[in-house]
Amino acid sequence: MTPKNEIEKLKADCLELEEQVKLLVITELRLRRTQAELIQSKEQIEDYSKTLEQKVEERTNRLNEAVKDLEAFAYGISHDLRAPIRHIDGFVKLMYSKIPQPDKSITDYYNKITASVNRMSVMIDSLLSFSRLGRREPAIKSIDLNSLVREVIDDFKPDIEKRKIKWIITPLPEILGDYHLIKAVYENLIANAIKYTSNKEEAVIEIGSDVNSKSVVELYVKDNGAGFDMAYSDKLFGVFQRLHSADHFEGIGIGLANVKQIIAKHKGSIRAEGKVNEGAAFYMTFPKK
Ligand SMILES: Nc1ncnc2c1ncn2[C@@H]1O[C@H](COP(=O)(O)OP(=O)(O)OP(=O)(O)O)[C@@H](O)[C@H]1O
Ligand SMILES: [Mg+2]
Repeated sequence: MTPKNEIEKLKADCLELEEQVKLLVITELRLRRTQAELIQSKEQIEDYSKTLEQKVEERTNRLNEAVKDLEAFAYGISHDLRAPIRHIDGFVKLMYSKIPQPDKSITDYYNKITASVNRMSVMIDSLLSFSRLGRREPAIKSIDLNSLVREVIDDFKPDIEKRKIKWIITPLPEILGDYHLIKAVYENLIANAIKYTSNKEEAVIEIGSDVNSKSVVELYVKDNGAGFDMAYSDKLFGVFQRLHSADHFEGIGIGLANVKQIIAKHKGSIRAEGKVNEGAAFYMTFPKK
């Protein structure tokens, strides 16, 4: 190659290099712009999520306020209803005592009125304790469920002397909770298991825990009693909701509503499974210690 040709080639290379540098500069500029846009988008997203968080917090606060108002309302109403009920009861008794020789129909009416008044009074009292429970803050401590369950069953012993009940109790874990509230949960579930197996020759009541889950403690109370239709399983935990008539099994229908409320206070959950005439099972979860 002649020196002249070489110079020409070098010039061409220089020009190409210059083009590439220009391209690089343009690309860098574009990249910077994209980066700036990305930063802006990120800031916008952060702003959105902050506003969203604020909105959620505001609404949660408003919801909590509304729940508190409703609780106070329920508490007030149930409290205020007690006095008129007492008056009705008192005056009906007084009226009946003033009838010199009441005939059978009058005595029947009187008995029906006092039975209804008593039931209403029990319902009001249970509503009141349901509301009180809602207002109570749990005192969280470590609980040994084995001794708690033993205590609960011991308390039931006088009522079940004549019953044939096979208890299958497997070791239970320790959980964090309010002792009195968790005791009330087991009292209600075990009372139900005892009550709804009362028609069985031999009742089998199982109390235990499933240890498979890593994040939660799973506990159960099962029985081989009257069971229930799964189609109505969502009703079980409602206030005054009953799936069995008072003629077959006595009750108010507040026990499981209390249980659900207590478990919610412990950030746990409860569900029920049942089959008519074959039994029922209640499964609870609590966060692990
Ligand atoms: N172990 C069980 N087996 C079958 N049905 C059950 C069982 N536990 C609860 N139930 C059904 O769920 C309903 C609600 O139970 P809950 O304990 O709230 O009320 P209750 O037992 O009727 O009355 P109480 O307020 O006295 O406890 C019951 O009426 C019954 O129909
Ligand atoms: Mg009950």
